[in-house]
Amino acid sequence: MNAWIPVSGLQIAVDGPSGSGKGTIANLLANAIGLPVLDTGLLYRFVGYSAMRGNVTINEEIAILKLLNNCIQDMQWQSGGIFVGGENIADRLRKEDVAAAASCVAAMPEVRKKLLHVQQDIAKNGCVMDGRDIGTVVLPDAQAKFFLTASLRERARRRWAQLQGLGGEVSLEATLNEIRERDRQDAERTHSPLKQAQDAVSIDSTTMRIDEVVERMLAIMARRQLIRAS
Ligand code: DC
Repeated sequence: MNAWIPVSGLQIAVDGPSGSGKGTIANLLANAIGLPVLDTGLLYRFVGYSAMRGNVTINEEIAILKLLNNCIQDMQWQSGGIFVGGENIADRLRKEDVAAAASCVAAMPEVRKKLLHVQQDIAKNGCVMDGRDIGTVVLPDAQAKFFLTASLRERARRRWAQLQGLGGEVSLEATLNEIRERDRQDAERTHSPLKQAQDAVSIDSTTMRIDEVVERMLAIMARRQLIRAS
């Protein structure tokens, strides 16, 4: 049984840069409250991955859009994953070789527009959603918005540990450089850059344990009567 009961249709937006812990935290929140969870980065990764597999040039927007229109029908979202042909490909999508392609397609306005509808549709009955623009663009009316941060070095360390778990052989320094570059791309792009929503609560998790961050978020939502103990 879940520890908390949400108000009907509760939408929780969790935004932040790569390695801020938002994915892990979104999952823990969703479990505690009994809501579905969507890591929206997986959608951009899915588009980048499909382009890589289909040998579509990654910076040609028209070709990417055509591909997206085709591949989105083959994809199914279920809480915690992206399924193609009945197989959850989330772990494959999270590998480092897909990240750069994802960042490139995420800068394309038409790709964002198309995925915006997919995300809003998924969230309509309540959801925990993590990404970069959830509180600002995808779910501007979400009842709870959080913006997670952590120092670059700590974020690189976390991401590196995660990649080790997925069988990667990349060095910590290379991971740090990639995150720095991705931060720059995500923050500087014209459409939906990474930005804190005005009404989001910001939490710096550099020196906090994951469970402490989750406890703080739950306490904030309980105080606002968005969730109650079961
Ligand atoms: O969080 P992630 O590394 O899995 O995200 C992959 C890419 O997608 C990253 O470059 C940021 C981008 N992204 C985005 O632009 N908007 C989102 N809501 C989620 C991810």
